[in-house]
Amino acid sequence: MTTIQTESFAEYILVEHRWIVVMVALLPLSALWKVWSIFRNYVVFKLNSAPKMHDKKVKEVQKQIKAWLSGDRSTRLCTARPAWQAMSFRQGIYKKTFTNIKVNLVDVLEVDTENMTVRCEPLVTMGQLSRTLEPLGLALAAVPELDQLTVGGLVMGTGVESSSHIYGLFQHFCTQYELVLADGSVVTCSKDENPDLFYAVPWSYGTLGFLTSAVIKVVPAKKYIRLEYHPYNKLSELSQQFREESLKEKPHQFIEALLYTKESGVLMTGDMADEIGDDGKYNPIGKWHSEWFFTQVQRHLHNNRSAVEYIPLRDYYHRHSRSLFWELQDIIPFGNNPIFRYLLGWLMPPEVSLLKLTQPEAVARLYDKAHVIQDMLVPVEHLEKSIEVFHKEIEVYPIWLCPFKVFNNPGQLKIKTKADWQMFVDVGVYGVPKAKGYETVSSTRAIEAFVSQHDGFQMLYADTYTTHEEFRRMFDHTLYDKVRDSLPHCKEAFPEIYGKVNRNVRK
Ligand SMILES: Cc1cc2nc3c(=O)[nH]c(=O)nc-3n(C[C@H](O)[C@H](O)[C@H](O)COP(=O)(O)OP(=O)(O)OC[C@H]3O[C@@H](n4cnc5c(N)ncnc54)[C@H](O)[C@@H]3O)c2cc1C
Ligand SMILES: *[C@@H]1O[C@H](CO)[C@@H](O)[C@H](O)[C@H]1NC(C)=O
Ligand SMILES: *[C@@H]1O[C@H](CO)[C@@H](O)[C@H](O)[C@H]1NC(C)=O
Repeated sequence: MTTIQTESFAEYILVEHRWIVVMVALLPLSALWKVWSIFRNYVVFKLNSAPKMHDKKVKEVQKQIKAWLSGDRSTRLCTARPAWQAMSFRQGIYKKTFTNIKVNLVDVLEVDTENMTVRCEPLVTMGQLSRTLEPLGLALAAVPELDQLTVGGLVMGTGVESSSHIYGLFQHFCTQYELVLADGSVVTCSKDENPDLFYAVPWSYGTLGFLTSAVIKVVPAKKYIRLEYHPYNKLSELSQQFREESLKEKPHQFIEALLYTKESGVLMTGDMADEIGDDGKYNPIGKWHSEWFFTQVQRHLHNNRSAVEYIPLRDYYHRHSRSLFWELQDIIPFGNNPIFRYLLGWLMPPEVSLLKLTQPEAVARLYDKAHVIQDMLVPVEHLEKSIEVFHKEIEVYPIWLCPFKVFNNPGQLKIKTKADWQMFVDVGVYGVPKAKGYETVSSTRAIEAFVSQHDGFQMLYADTYTTHEEFRRMFDHTLYDKVRDSLPHCKEAFPEIYGKVNRNVRK
């Protein structure tokens, strides 16, 4: 941190003693915001007022696009949601130069228990959705972890969680999208209706149209997750078991692993349960005073033996939320101290959006220089090799490992097999790199090259340093180009995906 030049005393306090700001301003504000939105969403859902409002709100979106159409169309279009509100730490510089379209659609529209789907507006968050579905005995097929991730971002980017080895990525359990296109028209698409558009929307990052609703599959849920912890001290053994578990004919419902060093980690397998069995202890990890989940898991590694626990459903789904995986340890260093947890733990985590809003330029620069946030997606057989490469180039621990299926659908994620699906693993690295010689651009490029050579993909929320050609090789643009050519005004209104995610082009 000392390498950062701070420009004023205020900035010095903000950078060097961020926790002060976090404590006196952010945490109380976050808590108030949370209470208000839970209350508001509950009332709206109970009154069932959102479905009636939906069409009117979609018309609002159309109206703004029509205004752009009738102008000189010298600017492009993007959502008006400011970059600080999104989860990604990237700075969306284009927000300043593009015409901002307000897509103020924030509600759960309908839960269909016959077809087992839920229809949502794009700004519905994962926390809001799991809170709405749980009392109905339901859950999304996979629940992307952090409370504040939105349906829109997960459809346009992607989402993955510990049941994705069964249900796939977020796009694989969405059955329909409703969009407003650049010509101002409203279309719905599914695998049977406008299939080209349906398959091109995921990973298009808002470059085909504005999402106004999505229909997503739900599954029956039980009260608890019975979670097994299996520690390993050899990467080869952990990798092999991880692969075997994810490829089993009848796998556990949830699979995830955390690596704490290159050779050691804990593999977790879970299944839903109606009640707490006598083979394990009850552990409500989501309590305000609970220890952060990733340090609890690490204890199983130190104990060096397998264990079983029963965890309440929502506590499990959002197990990494209170510590933002392990990002919070860099922002509130004593956040996991029991005294802090018992006194102020109920305020955690601070809203990421508020953190970013108060984040001065210096912190943004710090994140640029000395902080990695990347999810790389590789076929599961390359897991061990990937860890070795990540260790050499970056060296950040813990590493998050989550298996998922990529179904053989048309679209940007083209897999190199004729089978119905291929098993992948998400290798998530979040933190301060310790590798000797780490340098953001060259190290990230080395990883990107490795991932590309091994038929993998990079998540779009993180910075990409690939060239345009490399990016188009990683993601198959055949269908995407065809759809963009066929939609009126699409290319005028939106840049290519690369234009939004590459650092240099984005400006
Ligand atoms: C700290 C952190 C933790 C994360 N944790 C997880 C995790 O646990 N699981 C997981 O799966 N992923 C995770 N991600 C990645 C996440 O999947 C992406 O960031 C994803 O895009 C969702 O982000 P968001 O809801 O903030 O969407 P945004 O960043 O707001 O949206 C992403 C893009 O989608 C487009 N978009 C959004 N809404 C619309 C709309 N209505 N119409 C048209 N285009 C739209 C926009 O172009 C926007 O740039 C994490 C990311 C970070 C930074
Ligand atoms: C279930 O889906 C079918 C076919 O898509 C549809 O006709 C039916 O109305 C749906 N059921 C409900 C309760 O909406
Ligand atoms: C962990 O336990 C296994 C036996 O179950 C033993 O072989 C191994 O040496 C132990 N590892 C450590 C680091 O204690």
